[in-house]
Amino acid sequence: MCTQRIVLVGTVLATAAFGLAAPAPAAPTAETIARNCVVCHGPKEAGQLEIPKLADYPARKMIEMMTGFRDGQKEATIMNRIAKAFSDEQIAALAAYFANR
Ligand code: HEC
Repeated sequence: MCTQRIVLVGTVLATAAFGLAAPAPAAPTAETIARNCVVCHGPKEAGQLEIPKLADYPARKMIEMMTGFRDGQKEATIMNRIAKAFSDEQIAALAAYFANR
């Protein structure tokens, strides 16, 4: 009985330690994030209805628009909420990604 309890505690501790030692999930790449963007913006050169296309979008303008949406300096219906999900580094990676589409 007592031994069983010790084994159980040992297993729980080992599991917890393993959990802590496990590597953090990899941060999504710009390409992965971009797949979400094209749902609304349309693939490649298309654009979609009045939502502008992002292919060949100038990198500087992307950074300006995304940080503007995120920080509440640019009016938006939806991009203000979407942009909040991204760090400066991720926005820069997205800008580089779309500039070369
Ligand atoms: C739910 C649909 C939706 C998704 C998903 C979406 N967008 Fe948008 N995007 C819009 C709309 C709508 C606008 C127009 C501004 C507004 O009303 O929010 C816009 C505007 C923009 C603009 C400004 C375009 C211009 O020149 O005026 C940029 C840049 C942009 N989005 C980038 C992105 C990026 C990068 C992603 C992916 C991280 C993304 N969007 C995901 C709907 C979306």
